[in-house]
Amino acid sequence: MIPNNLANPQEVILTGDRATGPLHLGHYVGSLKQRVALQKDHEQTILVADMQGLTDNAFNPAKVSSNILNVVADYLAVGIDPKQTTLCLQSQLPALAELTMYYSNLVSVARLQRNPTVKAEVKDKNFERGIPAGFLTYPISQAADITGFNATIVPVGEDQIPMLEQTNEIVRKINALAGGEILKECRPMLSKVPRLPSTDGKAKMSKSLGNAINLGASEQEIRVAVKSMYTDPSHLRVEDPGQTEGNVVFTYLEAFHPDQGYVDRLKVQYRQGGLGDGTTKTILEECLQEVLRPIRQKRAEFLDDKGQLIELLKAGSDIAREKTEQVMFDVRGVFGLNIFS
Ligand code: TRP
Repeated sequence: MIPNNLANPQEVILTGDRATGPLHLGHYVGSLKQRVALQKDHEQTILVADMQGLTDNAFNPAKVSSNILNVVADYLAVGIDPKQTTLCLQSQLPALAELTMYYSNLVSVARLQRNPTVKAEVKDKNFERGIPAGFLTYPISQAADITGFNATIVPVGEDQIPMLEQTNEIVRKINALAGGEILKECRPMLSKVPRLPSTDGKAKMSKSLGNAINLGASEQEIRVAVKSMYTDPSHLRVEDPGQTEGNVVFTYLEAFHPDQGYVDRLKVQYRQGGLGDGTTKTILEECLQEVLRPIRQKRAEFLDDKGQLIELLKAGSDIAREKTEQVMFDVRGVFGLNIFS
């Protein structure tokens, strides 16, 4: 884990999101804010991972295709500037698929099955009886995404760390084969809130489980989500002492409230007794309404001009395609297969 200020300007940054739904507050504090901060003085690419989205949605492809522009609008609404960050679409960069094929020969099925993130997802998605080959191997494709740009820093949430470990194993194998540094190892950049809990406090926050607050959530949706938030189940009366640990309302206040001194005082009061969940939820709701109002507005404006979003993604993909083809050429060379050049 590296704090923001340790990323020197030579570092190349690549990250991405599956286009399987609009982005939510977990993405915002987990990684989007970092990307906005990093774009000013770093080479940064953000990949809309439509192909990775298909690895568990191939029979419902509209779930992916219909969300591509939503994700782009989310990026722009939080302050990603397409002049400073290259925004591109994974399916339009064939070199990434090619890299995946070459890397596949370096990774065992058992290693993929041991990947903790894959393991958890296989359970969540009821894939125990049959895992799509594309799903099992998506860590290899993600390694292609990262190395395809020679990225050294990947701003992601905590759940993505096993992907970066697998990427670095592939990098080391390629470099060993090459007898030199063809590819660079990467490091995650985690935020101070690498895993925001879901509103129900139980499962992981997820686009599919309906326990997330989307960046485009309406005022009403925010209100309902905050009202239903998990607090301390044994805090029955206002005057009772309550627990702030594991209390989702406080976790969110810590992640989003601009005045952390105030949040600390609220915590003390809650623990002593005398502060009700109704009050803490009202405070949180106001705070989230403030955070999300401008984002929701900008998002809607961007989605009003889909043609412009497509243009922007196309221009970024053209730039990205060139970069990834160069890396593909180098990797093909490691296997001695640049026969025509
Ligand atoms: N796995 C990421 C997710 O679940 C998406 C992703 C695809 C990604 N390629 C990437 C993240 C490369 C970081 C780097 O949303």
